[in-house]
Amino acid sequence: MSTTSKGFASALQAAPATGHARIAGIGGYRPRRVVPNSELVEAINSSDEWIRERSGIIERRFAGEGESVIDMSVMAAEPALEMAGIKGSDIDAILVATISWPYQTPAAAPLIAERFGTDAMAIDLSAACAGYCHGIALANDMVRGGSAENVLVVGVERLSDFTSRDDRGTAFIFGDGAGAAVISRSETPGIGPTIWGSDGEKWDAISQTDSWIDVREKGLDWPHIGMQGQTVFRWAVWGMAPVAQRALDAAGITADQLDAFVPHQANVRIVEAMAKKLNLPDDVAIARDIAYTGNTSAASVPLAMERMVRHGEIPRGGLALQIGFGAGLSYAAQVVVIP
Ligand SMILES: CC(C)(COP(=O)(O)OP(=O)(O)OC[C@H]1O[C@@H](n2cnc3c(N)ncnc32)[C@H](O)[C@@H]1OP(=O)(O)O)[C@@H](O)C(=O)NCCC(=O)NCCS
Repeated sequence: MSTTSKGFASALQAAPATGHARIAGIGGYRPRRVVPNSELVEAINSSDEWIRERSGIIERRFAGEGESVIDMSVMAAEPALEMAGIKGSDIDAILVATISWPYQTPAAAPLIAERFGTDAMAIDLSAACAGYCHGIALANDMVRGGSAENVLVVGVERLSDFTSRDDRGTAFIFGDGAGAAVISRSETPGIGPTIWGSDGEKWDAISQTDSWIDVREKGLDWPHIGMQGQTVFRWAVWGMAPVAQRALDAAGITADQLDAFVPHQANVRIVEAMAKKLNLPDDVAIARDIAYTGNTSAASVPLAMERMVRHGEIPRGGLALQIGFGAGLSYAAQVVVIP
């Protein structure tokens, strides 16, 4: 073998970069079964009032039969494709943000591709509650970089499978559902620069209680997602508002130019505190989907936006600041044009 190059580097062809990308369609799916606080309080010695006051949650949805991670993803993606005006066969890449697909491997995404009759590139992303906003950033770069034309980004969770009904800190927080967006080429910019990052020092602030190896070796119970509530609360309130502000700055947008603020639906008190720190004017619509959907991790941002678009609460073509943050710890924020 020679260590001298053959000298053909200049012959390499790159995918032609295209102009811009936008969210061309958005959709959501909420499971049929509504679970009010009253159904959960006994096991955790809590009350409907306490849960409403501390988290803003009134009810959430739990998935049942016919509502697998794949089923919910497909049902959320269908209206997103319709809004984007494309068929399943037009999708050439699928990014699925999830932490509750119950297989270590393979990923969920290829099964979703199969349901839509496409052989699209299909992978899963593990960034918990920040996963969808990471997916939007990657899809934006893929479309702009010329490696895909239509990317389906799905945020989907069946967290009821990984939540302990006896855990006082989490039993009332999590819910199930799916949200989806189609990212396509655009004449004008539709997705601003993403501000993203991680804090591995707080890796265990939100985490699966035990590794699969420990579960097997030590005969432990089925693991669930555990959380250091106050650590996460402080990090979200103090750490994430500056990230959201940086996303605004990077997009060249000021708070008064926004039509909507769509943060991860972690806890309504976190949502309110962030909005206050960002000095959002009163006419910026703030997503509060958590009241009826709970915290659906990767699905929460697209579900919240989908509800606001469907109810006509925010103008299509206006600007929304969205931010996802959670386990990792990891976060991603960007300004987007509302589809
Ligand atoms: C989980 C959370 C609501 C708990 O609220 P908190 O104010 O931090 O609660 P604490 O653990 O400090 O407990 C405060 C009191 O409430 C009680 N308590 C805790 N959980 C309770 C529950 N489920 N029901 C009733 N009382 C509860 C505690 O016993 C404690 O009582 P005491 O003051 O008599 O000792 C809050 O920490 C939180 O929202 N954290 C962020 C969670 C989040 O957003 N996660 C998603 C991240 S992606």
